[in-house]
Amino acid sequence: MGQAEWARELARTILEEPLPRRWAHSQGVAAKAESLAPILGEEADLLIASAWLHDIGYAPDLIDTGFHPLDGARYLRDVIKADDRLCRLVAHHTCAVNEARNRDLFDALTSEFDQERPELVEALTYCDMTTSPDGVPLDVTERLAEIHSRYGPEHLVSRSITASTPCILAAVGAVETALRARQNYTGR
Ligand SMILES: [Fe+2]
Repeated sequence: MGQAEWARELARTILEEPLPRRWAHSQGVAAKAESLAPILGEEADLLIASAWLHDIGYAPDLIDTGFHPLDGARYLRDVIKADDRLCRLVAHHTCAVNEARNRDLFDALTSEFDQERPELVEALTYCDMTTSPDGVPLDVTERLAEIHSRYGPEHLVSRSITASTPCILAAVGAVETALRARQNYTGR
């Protein structure tokens, strides 16, 4: 069994009952990750696993600092003893360093978790930021607008998303370019 199936069942256990909307979102993000298999090769399994687990830090039982990438990654590292690469992807998903800075958790995040390979980091950001909170595919600009309207202009999350927008758009652009190049190469 690959990591992806294991990750799906772990995420289901953690999210499905307490946070059904996050669970729906995670299913959509994982489906997006599966669609990137042609450009990721053997690393697709790792990306899909990280997609299932990227938001587990929102689960009430896992909340510690209140910064979900760090809480989720620490849980995976300390309790689950998960693969280092998987922990790193969850810790840094969707340009998390910017929100970490705003929460005074930048040093904690970056000293505990290194960055993963940029292509994988970008791929997870793409999957998260082109999937709605309900798990439906949507354009990155709609996704950014949705976050701003959900949290409101003064919220720390909105300010962090503003700081992360260049990083998010660059990641989405890089993945779309890789997908187009792949389509041109295969003729599909
Ligand atoms: Fe997240």
